[in-house]
Amino acid sequence: MTVTPREYISQIDKSANYIRGIIGSAEIPGICTVLGSGLSPLADHCEDKITVPYADIPGFPISTVEGHEGKLIIGTLEGKRVFMMSGRFHAYEGYGTDVCTFYVRVMSKLGVKTLILTNAAGGISPELKPPELMIITDHIGFFCISPLIGPNLDEFGVRFPDQSEVYDSEYVSLLEDKAREAGIRIHKGVYAYCKGPQYETPAEIRALKLWGADAVGMSTVPEAIVAAHCGMRTAAVSCITNFAAGLNSGKLSHPEVMMNAARASDDSCRLVKLFISSLN
Ligand code: HPA
Repeated sequence: MTVTPREYISQIDKSANYIRGIIGSAEIPGICTVLGSGLSPLADHCEDKITVPYADIPGFPISTVEGHEGKLIIGTLEGKRVFMMSGRFHAYEGYGTDVCTFYVRVMSKLGVKTLILTNAAGGISPELKPPELMIITDHIGFFCISPLIGPNLDEFGVRFPDQSEVYDSEYVSLLEDKAREAGIRIHKGVYAYCKGPQYETPAEIRALKLWGADAVGMSTVPEAIVAAHCGMRTAAVSCITNFAAGLNSGKLSHPEVMMNAARASDDSCRLVKLFISSLN
């Protein structure tokens, strides 16, 4: 943490108060969806939309990645009030994981109880073919510098939080049911976090496979750890945008990742919409 815990909490409060002010007398959403690669069209389905650039929110970092826009959308989707994060923060941009997860704590302060994380990932399991979707059931986060390092923020959660169900099992079942109902080919599996920005080497992928990873990516885990710390329920879906390094003859590239994320976009948006509509 580059600021003191007191400063960090005061920044969270400032951001939350600013967002509360923007919402005014309307209902504050209880759901936050992160629009990972390919999911930005979901914002077009949102009604009564207010869009707030991250740059306007005091304390908010600004995302620097192509395809990650950097704005908070507040609106109604499928009759539910939602926050949508169009753009997230990654450790490879040079942010500490406390900064990458700042928005999760802001959402917690605003009373959000459900976090929906989406991402692009490389497929390790032979079952996974781009551009299919995988519901994350668990993660391997050894390479993630824990966002909880430093003095514990007691008002959010305990010092040594349990991680036995970071991804809510009811949400996993609900996502699976909704995908099946909608005829979307779906998988479930374990997501391994690597910091990036370089893609993994084939040897790293073989090692991750031995550890039980089904897919690999550069986001989601820090946010899911903080959400679990705050007592939020997390649902997460990966769009498998490529075969992980060494699993086919081609080289990995960001344009390929973006192209497959776009190809999966319809299914990803439909699944998240169906999931949101069936939340209580
Ligand atoms: N590795 C890490 N992150 C990724 C990948 C990958 O293969 N594909 C999309 N994001």
